[in-house]
Amino acid sequence: MNTLYYGDNLPILKKHFPSESVDLIYLDPPFNSNRNYNVLFKDESGTEADAQITAFEDTWHWTQDAERLYHDVVTASLPVSGLLSSLRFTIGTNQMMAYLVMMTARLIELHRVLKATGSLYLHCDPTASHYLKIILDEIFGFDRMRSEIIWRRYGGFKRSSAKKFPHKHDTILFYSKSEELTFHPQFKEHKKEYIRRFKKDDQGRLYRDDVNPTKGGRRIIYFDEVEGDLIDSLWTDIFPINPLAAERLGYPTQKPVALLERIIKASSNEGDVVLDPFCGCGTAIAAAQNLNRKWIGIDITHLSIALMKYRLKDTFHLEPKKDYSVVGEPEDVSSARQLANDDRYQFQWWALSLIKARPAGAGGEKKKGADKGIDGLITFIDDQSGKGKRVLIQVKSGHVKSGDIRDMVGVLDREKAEIGIFITLNEPTRDMITEAVSAGYYHSEGWQRDYPKVQILTIADLLNGKPVQLPPTSTTFKNGNSIVREPDQIYLNL
Ligand SMILES: C[S@@+](CC[C@H](N)C(=O)[O-])C[C@H]1O[C@@H](n2cnc3c(N)ncnc32)[C@H](O)[C@@H]1O
Repeated sequence: MNTLYYGDNLPILKKHFPSESVDLIYLDPPFNSNRNYNVLFKDESGTEADAQITAFEDTWHWTQDAERLYHDVVTASLPVSGLLSSLRFTIGTNQMMAYLVMMTARLIELHRVLKATGSLYLHCDPTASHYLKIILDEIFGFDRMRSEIIWRRYGGFKRSSAKKFPHKHDTILFYSKSEELTFHPQFKEHKKEYIRRFKKDDQGRLYRDDVNPTKGGRRIIYFDEVEGDLIDSLWTDIFPINPLAAERLGYPTQKPVALLERIIKASSNEGDVVLDPFCGCGTAIAAAQNLNRKWIGIDITHLSIALMKYRLKDTFHLEPKKDYSVVGEPEDVSSARQLANDDRYQFQWWALSLIKARPAGAGGEKKKGADKGIDGLITFIDDQSGKGKRVLIQVKSGHVKSGDIRDMVGVLDREKAEIGIFITLNEPTRDMITEAVSAGYYHSEGWQRDYPKVQILTIADLLNGKPVQLPPTSTTFKNGNSIVREPDQIYLNL
């Protein structure tokens, strides 16, 4: 069954993946770019909210863990072990070395899980691509390097004071496990001017008469029989996700579906298994699903797992558990408590995903949204003005008291928000419930219904499927009396 795994891909690969079980691997790991990647959310009115949260950090350090992993790889006596110790000698124990050790351990596992006919595409940039290539040469064999693809990322050039040429491409290193690889050459689409030279026959098939002077005759050429130009290793025809692209989810480093579709079509067949061990907002997963491949995604943040779940629902109407499995998410209160103890933000992102709320943060700081008393947001439109109205969410994993509910009422007032949802891991006290009830109701003109102004839900409630009471978020009221159904836009097209 198609599966999403939450967690670090190294132990997950070791524990869950038999050898030679995957047909195609695409990985787009952090590049060692020394940046924090922020997620930007836009609210439904289309204006860019200043809500930013750090999705993942791309900064590496030489720590005890790096030292341990280095030890594991070097003592495994693999061909790459010698290379890694030479690199340490040359590079030293610094951020780059920490990154390369992290990558080497994972690439060894990825090579193991790949079938003999399988291929791996490693997406990287010039920061470390030269080191990654020699590491892959050692793991796969230098003669298994099939292509070094240059993906030219278009985009405006800013005037820069840096004394270098602006950097506008990524490198995708394509290796096969053996000479028996699955590979289908890909062809470019025909240019419009070329297509215009064809006419339709009675059956609607495009054709053209071709005068062939060397053979002194004519022949009919059918459009569907002519291949476009062969795609080579320089990819200049796929545009990165721009700020207005329909497929844009607001996840940093999101790659275009077209890029992944090209890779998947070239190196797999229908029904094959595609694995993305650093899957972010799930571009490889979406492309694999489009092309009738099986898929497995792994990511270390709940933010990404939540985004993928929404993407799969909104694009393909797929539901977790029914249509695919999710491994590593809390299934009961005690594992939710464990997650909260391990990492408060992961817990928060996971809890918000249970009610399809988007995380709130500001200025790229994880903490700031929480400081304002808002951890998450849902927007709905329920009257003909088309104005987006807000549901504010607080998530608590520790001790809770009635003062928290009073504070929430204050925040709703201050922020002029319609409804507040208070998610708590611990059971609420009787006073809290009374306080919430006395906040009264929000009356929706559009739906002619009342909704409790402050709603308390425990994690146990949510795990048991208890719903929040909100006006539908997937409906837009247009001018006039008609109600137009639109896809859920909580995350997609924000
Ligand atoms: C560059 S992004 C991938 C973007 C993706 N290609 C897309 O189109 O959305 C890298 C992802 O790797 C994840 N990640 C980083 N370290 C990881 C690890 N050890 N195990 C699993 N995922 C990891 C990050 O959370 C991030 O979502």
